[in-house]
Amino acid sequence: MTGRFLRPASGRALAAFALAALVLAAGEEGGRSVWGGVYTEAQATRGAEAYQANCQSCHGAQLTGQGEAKPLSGASFLSGWNGLSVGDLFERIRSTMPMTAPKSLPRDTYADILAYLLKFNGFPAGMGELPGRAERLADIRFDAFRTSGLGLAGARAVTAPAPDAGPNGAPNPYVADAGFLKPPPGRTLGSSSGVAVDSRGHVWLADRCSANSCEASGLDPIMEFAADGAFIKAFGRGLFLFPHGLFIDAQDHVWVTDAQSRAGKGAQVFEFDQNGAVMRALGKPGVSVAGQDTFAEPSAVLVARDGTVFVADGHTQGKDPARIVKFDARGRFLKQWGVRGAAPGQMEVPHALAMDSGGRLFVADRWNNRVQIFDQEGGLLATWPQFGRPSGLYIDRTGTLYATDSESRQPEGYGHHPGWRRGIWIGSARTGVVTGFIPDLAPDPDKQATSGAEGIWVDRQGRIYASRVLEKGVVRYSKKP
Ligand code: HEC
Repeated sequence: MTGRFLRPASGRALAAFALAALVLAAGEEGGRSVWGGVYTEAQATRGAEAYQANCQSCHGAQLTGQGEAKPLSGASFLSGWNGLSVGDLFERIRSTMPMTAPKSLPRDTYADILAYLLKFNGFPAGMGELPGRAERLADIRFDAFRTSGLGLAGARAVTAPAPDAGPNGAPNPYVADAGFLKPPPGRTLGSSSGVAVDSRGHVWLADRCSANSCEASGLDPIMEFAADGAFIKAFGRGLFLFPHGLFIDAQDHVWVTDAQSRAGKGAQVFEFDQNGAVMRALGKPGVSVAGQDTFAEPSAVLVARDGTVFVADGHTQGKDPARIVKFDARGRFLKQWGVRGAAPGQMEVPHALAMDSGGRLFVADRWNNRVQIFDQEGGLLATWPQFGRPSGLYIDRTGTLYATDSESRQPEGYGHHPGWRRGIWIGSARTGVVTGFIPDLAPDPDKQATSGAEGIWVDRQGRIYASRVLEKGVVRYSKKP
């Protein structure tokens, strides 16, 4: 494990290694660690504000660092502090930062900022606050890659500071099948960021007309396949430019967004019944405006059990809007929230949506490299960086969150997310603990803006369906026997 990243083929070996490391770890002395919930959400929220005021100008809104100012998140930060204590980190920050005015902040403010750093790096919140005294922080180990204490399922990586196991070190318990869906004769599958499974196990795909656009195509983009992958039917020709988000609601209706618009077409959200009849069309064709009855670039749609409709609107970084729009079950506008930006609660390219059984709305805030969780009124509940740079989200019945990262890149520029690797993140939607990672196998991801899975859904058997823009079509992942 000397390369920049874990080698793709090493998933099985890694799982075995993680297991061995766990057994070893179990024999070590106890004591507190950063996995034990050593700060509170409220403290981290205060810390986020203090960070913005005192640290962000040098270390960046995403804690990626810039120039000489080192990253305060990701693999290099985590491995640099791994094995030391939170007290060490506290002293380091207090005695040298902010660079221009060390020790200028109250001790409690340094502790708050530390809480924010822990939260941003994926360590869970708990019931008590971090105190502002190094000696009391000295017994909290900064165990960057240790397990969560939730047993084997919580295995995160290995004890040795294999630096680049970092955030990508969780085991991959899946085998891939890229040839599972069988398109009809004469048709190939195109780019897709939307795949879903209905209550009968049928797989639905928003296919960009065998290409990466449906403009001027006579093909039907919405495709239905049987549970064994056999093609059943397709519909929707002429309605779409760029079919993007796909969702199947509790009545098995198929919802699809069109994230582009030109010449009287696009910028709409369609609801189809299973026969392909248009039940509803939200937005106005070709009118790309962030209004109450129009969308600019609708990326994703989600329908709650009670019929409430949520649309994530905004697909281009640096361009308004970046908002969530909420409609009642009859399609009447209720409210919207979200502005463009990197602060907590703001967003930049809200690319996908998911909802847990408690009705919390998960937003893939892609350009900000994080998942944000809101209540249904737009109140921010949590900000999670540990699921990569998310393009797609799905939460299954067991409360497992799946997030696709099709964009993380090491260099500056599009997709910049140093230390993070593309693939599918798997973890708990409740605690946020990451338990699995399916690496994307693109040979040189830094050369492409996208690769691997974007759209994602999981069937009742726990099989993952992941649709791809670059490589096209769908991969089905099944658990290793
Ligand atoms: C004026 C720019 C600037 C500001 C403001 C600033 N830093 Fe830094 N920081 C740096 C530079 C440059 C380095 C690298 C030099 C060094 O290690 O001292 C650094 C290093 C660090 C390190 C060490 C990272 C590592 O892994 O070795 C930490 C931690 C840190 N800063 C935290 C903070 C915090 C927290 C704040 C806000 C209270 C802050 N910094 C404000 C410029 C700044």
